Amino acid sequence: MILLTGGLGYLGSHMAAQIIEQGHEVVLVDNLSNSKIAVLDRLSQLTGRDISFVKIDVRDKAAMQEVFSQYPITQVVHFAGSKSVNESIQQPLDYYDNNVNSLISLLHVMKEAQVKTIVFSSTAAIYGEPESLPIPESARQAPITPYGRSKQICEQILQDFSNAEQGWKIAVLRYFNPAGAHSSGIIGEVPNGIPNNLVPYIAQVARDERPFLQVFGNDYNTIDGTGVRDFIHVQDLIDGHTKALAWLSTQPQAFEVLNLGRGEGVSVKQMLDAFSKAVGHELPYKVVARRDGDSASVYADASRANCLLGWQATRTVDEMAIDTWRFYEKLA
Ligand code: UD1
Repeated sequence: MILLTGGLGYLGSHMAAQIIEQGHEVVLVDNLSNSKIAVLDRLSQLTGRDISFVKIDVRDKAAMQEVFSQYPITQVVHFAGSKSVNESIQQPLDYYDNNVNSLISLLHVMKEAQVKTIVFSSTAAIYGEPESLPIPESARQAPITPYGRSKQICEQILQDFSNAEQGWKIAVLRYFNPAGAHSSGIIGEVPNGIPNNLVPYIAQVARDERPFLQVFGNDYNTIDGTGVRDFIHVQDLIDGHTKALAWLSTQPQAFEVLNLGRGEGVSVKQMLDAFSKAVGHELPYKVVARRDGDSASVYADASRANCLLGWQATRTVDEMAIDTWRFYEKLA
């Protein structure tokens, strides 16, 4: 049985849908801090199954011990965490507490329960401003926000723990820019307030909830002057997790760090155009000043995940836009 922490979040819910479909047993835990309980019903609707769910905070050790004693868990994917870059600058202690302490507590509980496989959600934010492109896993690490630094600390904890312990199988996955939604339109990234990230913001413009997209700068040295990122379809990202779990299960012991991206840069303007095509009309935008802390271009060298796992992202930017829109169009 696979435990997904943050199981009702954007990535957790897509992973749950995929692995249930593949015939795995899952249990989800989530503290609902940035997700909604309605996602559980949607997952049941999607999979035709009752899904085991426990509302707890991963830092609550006693509650987590109870989950491990109640369910025959063999593998863990630790999605739970705080991920807003802006919020992390305002509330650094909350970010370090939630992201770092939840990992430490989880590892203690796993160790007690003799469950030794974990896939950890990390981020390309660990690299900060890239020195060269595409970015390999070995690139310099220079995160520029408490969010990125909290994930960097988690990676170091996992590395140290792996060195000290026998038989642990650990994969650290560094995500680039997840986008898109399940092709059913039933689950997706549930918006929470004013989005900071590009794709949810464009989706709200498409729903007429915002008057226009603010494009943060069009004077970068990129294809059209707008920022370039490595957007990756959430289903491709989840494929990377299931492949990582399958690979870990063949290893006696492992510690691997892998980039998950398409390895291709797509500009803000190109993403906006893909979305306009999906919606069926031009979406309004205004060019405004650059956003502090943004790099011109960020994209992955994802060849390591390809070599090791046989994984490669296959879904296009058009599919990301179409699937995101299908989900948002249905939102109440
Ligand atoms: C951000 C975070 C990163 C996190 C990722 C999650 C920063 C510096 N980095 O990445 O740590 O892992 O989200 O997906 O915040 N843009 C606009 N208008 C908007 C919003 C964004 O033009 O309203 C542009 C940005 O300038 C950037 C691109 O769109 O060029 C992508 O921005 P965003 O979706 O926020 O992702 P990142 O900044 O790459």
